[in-house]
Amino acid sequence: MRFAGSHNSMQDAGKRDAGARAADLVRDGTVLGLGTGSTVFFAVERLRSRIAEGLDLVAVPTSYQAAMRAREAGIPLTTLDEHPEVDATIDGADQVDGCLRLIKGRGAAHTREKCVAAASARLFIAVDPSKMVGVLTGPIPVEVLPFACKPVMARIAGLGGEGVLREGLRKDGPVITDNGNFVLDARFGAISDPEHLEAAIEAIPGVVAAGLFTGFTERTTVLVGEKDGVRILGRQPGL
Ligand code: A5P
Repeated sequence: MRFAGSHNSMQDAGKRDAGARAADLVRDGTVLGLGTGSTVFFAVERLRSRIAEGLDLVAVPTSYQAAMRAREAGIPLTTLDEHPEVDATIDGADQVDGCLRLIKGRGAAHTREKCVAAASARLFIAVDPSKMVGVLTGPIPVEVLPFACKPVMARIAGLGGEGVLREGLRKDGPVITDNGNFVLDARFGAISDPEHLEAAIEAIPGVVAAGLFTGFTERTTVLVGEKDGVRILGRQPGL
């Protein structure tokens, strides 16, 4: 199967190296969370080779895309029902700050990604260097119930932001997530207190999840695909 977007990703050496390195950290017998997006694509490709060499794992996919790519690569799939405790998750990010707080959700998969991250003992976040920032600036993807879209926009404005309904590129009207909801992209400019903003957005009735990930820094290893090798930040892979 050919996947839209995979061709451009193939040209991105930073994503490729970081994704492949993350896949190399997976141990035999792992219950693996599988994130969504172009960087994880490279991890899946490496896992395909490692499985052919005998690696044993089962994966919890975070989206239809992750499930389809995993299936195509011969990665056995499972669910959080069967495996509510996940050993490690490989995922990408849109922005990573110096404290390893993340913005995620460019692909509208951040709600399931957050569920799987919360169930995971370890998080391996693979990025190219353009994702590394001093201060998170967003926009922050916010999954919302369609029923509550307007009031959520008003509440986001009350927090000092501006929520814009995400529209499809090859589909008229709003993007519909894998969970049947809408996505707002919420702009706040430089985010001075990400923990507080994440909690404030997620406290709005009708919000399913914000693409701010501030609660996982202790369990996070970030792999940055630099020109001269993969730089590792945060928790060391073996520990
Ligand atoms: C999916 O909704 C996102 O959270 C992705 O994990 C994130 O946007 C990174 O995507 P890329 O690896 O394609 O840059």
